[in-house]
Amino acid sequence: MAKSKRSAPTLDDLTAADAEAELARLAAEIARHDERYFLADDPEISDADYDALRRRNEAIEQRFPELIRNDSPSKRVGAAPSATFSKVRHGVPMLSLGNAFADEDVTEFVARVRRFLSLSAEEPLAITAEPKIDGLSISLRYQNGELVGAATRGDGAEGENVTANVKTIREIPARLKGRDLPAVAEVRGEIYLRHDDFAALNAAQAEAGSKVFANPRNAAAGSLRQLDSSITAARPLRFFAYTWGELSALPENTQHGMVETFASWGLPVNPLMRVCATADDLLAFYREIGERRASLGYDIDGVVYKVDRLDYQDRLGFVSRSPRWAIAHKFPAEQATTVLRDIEIQVGRTGSLTPVAKLEPVTVGGVVVSNATLHNEDEIARKDVRIGDTVVVQRAGDVIPQVVRPVIEKRPADAVPYVFPKVCPACGSHAVREADSDPEAGGVVRRCTGGLICPAQAKERLKHFVSRLAFDIEGMGEEKIEAFFDEGLIRRPADIFTLEARDKESADPLAKRKGFGAKSVDKLFRAIDARRTIGLERFLFALGIRHIGETTAKDLAKAYRTMEAFRAAVQAAVVAGADSEAYEDIDAIEGIGTTVVDALIDFFSEPHNVEAVDDLLAHVTVAPFVPHAAVESPVTGKTVVFTGKLEQLGRSEAKAQAERLGAKVSGSVSAKTDYVVAGADAGSKLTNAQKLGVTVLTEDEWIALIKG
Ligand code: IVH
Repeated sequence: MAKSKRSAPTLDDLTAADAEAELARLAAEIARHDERYFLADDPEISDADYDALRRRNEAIEQRFPELIRNDSPSKRVGAAPSATFSKVRHGVPMLSLGNAFADEDVTEFVARVRRFLSLSAEEPLAITAEPKIDGLSISLRYQNGELVGAATRGDGAEGENVTANVKTIREIPARLKGRDLPAVAEVRGEIYLRHDDFAALNAAQAEAGSKVFANPRNAAAGSLRQLDSSITAARPLRFFAYTWGELSALPENTQHGMVETFASWGLPVNPLMRVCATADDLLAFYREIGERRASLGYDIDGVVYKVDRLDYQDRLGFVSRSPRWAIAHKFPAEQATTVLRDIEIQVGRTGSLTPVAKLEPVTVGGVVVSNATLHNEDEIARKDVRIGDTVVVQRAGDVIPQVVRPVIEKRPADAVPYVFPKVCPACGSHAVREADSDPEAGGVVRRCTGGLICPAQAKERLKHFVSRLAFDIEGMGEEKIEAFFDEGLIRRPADIFTLEARDKESADPLAKRKGFGAKSVDKLFRAIDARRTIGLERFLFALGIRHIGETTAKDLAKAYRTMEAFRAAVQAAVVAGADSEAYEDIDAIEGIGTTVVDALIDFFSEPHNVEAVDDLLAHVTVAPFVPHAAVESPVTGKTVVFTGKLEQLGRSEAKAQAERLGAKVSGSVSAKTDYVVAGADAGSKLTNAQKLGVTVLTEDEWIALIKG
């Protein structure tokens, strides 16, 4: 077996006590990796290393069968499938949904949609409601009615080609029924397993001495991601169609009409979908489905609401990665109690110290949980969570499990309040308390002041750099970064791109090492080569500058188009400082606020960072940003300011529409503004525009202009 980092005693040397301890450790460790893999979809170790852990577990169990734990990984499946599939780019991205938890979130959703569309109280707004299936989403491509491809969601932009396996699913027709089928129809929906089929499958697995699945969702995912299609064929997978990707012709103009069309084509659709008229109707549907949940025969984790009219859906569009026209109303989180064994401090990329609860593994909602977040030091103090406590943990859907509260009656007599460390556990630097500027993180954060000397921060920055939405270097996972960093092979992003050259000169080349092999090393180097040219938005995101997330990086890329233009603008702001025109120019970009401008200035004022970026640019070409829908419209590239009350378009809709057409929407009027669109009661912006000689349009003139 592959040697794990801790050198484990050989099987023959193992005492029963050692074995018991190691099995406990393996159960927790494997559960943690399963969680990373299945919940976070963000594995920390390679499939090979994962398999080695499982093999070690099984070998010990074979020698000491009396020590097999109830929560043993051998009783569950979570094994990262070893199958590899080719990648498929989704022509239309597969997006996720925003979440609603409370009734008010649903009322607010309906109100928000109405506001966006500027609907008066009398105008009807039909919204469909349907169960949210807890399976895995799939995109089926039909050409002239024939199933030609199937891809998993993946990261939404690119999924895995599972066509051969999907073709074995009986519920999915190989040919659509009916006439006038569109030349291309991408039908999307959920693959899932029914409870009875899941139970029978697990019974058969147990009978055959094979692995038993933790829940229907894992079983469905594991069944689909098989290299051998005959295994998939033997699993009773099912499917519900609920949305679509590319469609050469739209057969209907409502959501429910589309789903009815899918049914007429011979695709299974969920029979419980209902068209509702008000938020109250949606909530009534939610409660009704909640009551029926246990008897549906398949797992659901909430209900989904979608604006029914497709023209409304178009107008509403998307924010970030979710549609404005739909929302998932989740069922409450499932809870369980377990023992808090320890509190571990993780150091993030920006030095934040995050406490992680190390738990006695426990099943919550069908998944074994052994880690949960404790958020920050104030949360621990507020909840008074102590090591040794029995705690209530919860998980909802795919969010990170949380510690809700301690069970005080079960507190051990010697449990003491937790003292949060005042120094960084990785580098020993002072850790200072800061008010967290990220409102979502809530409250305070203790941050390591070690900056560039802190190895934990450096590693996290590198992990971020290679991650999926950044440079996305295949084969360069977190585990490799850790190992390469510890060895001194990769300390800064630029080192990744000189690795091959240095390896060629090395006395101890990677290919000769245990666990590598010439083939995998070559694959890694080619994956690195593939990223020597990278889009501006990915590059900016990869730098890991505080407050520059995926969306902000895109906003910046959209505004500046090229690395050179971006650098010049930021450099000007660095030199001129706050309150300068250069500062205001960045601040004026849609989606960018002063927090981001300050973060950019902080980052680029630091010579080490500038040097790291320049070194990187010596090896990497940054490709200019290509606007998504390369629509040429009369307002492409123009800067527009909306002011006053608009009658036909809501303010957010006007803004979203202008951006879709390639215009830049700004909040303030300057000499660089091309148009000011003034509605009723326009104030100082209008006067400003007149002073500066900027073209002022009425709402009607604006609409005429964009219609060309
Ligand atoms: S609609 C553009 N409808 O939920 C939005 N999604 O959180 C398309 N899901 O990735 C999704 N049941 O896998 C939709 N009835 C349903 C669903 C559903 C389950 C899943 C889907 C999606 C995730 C979003």
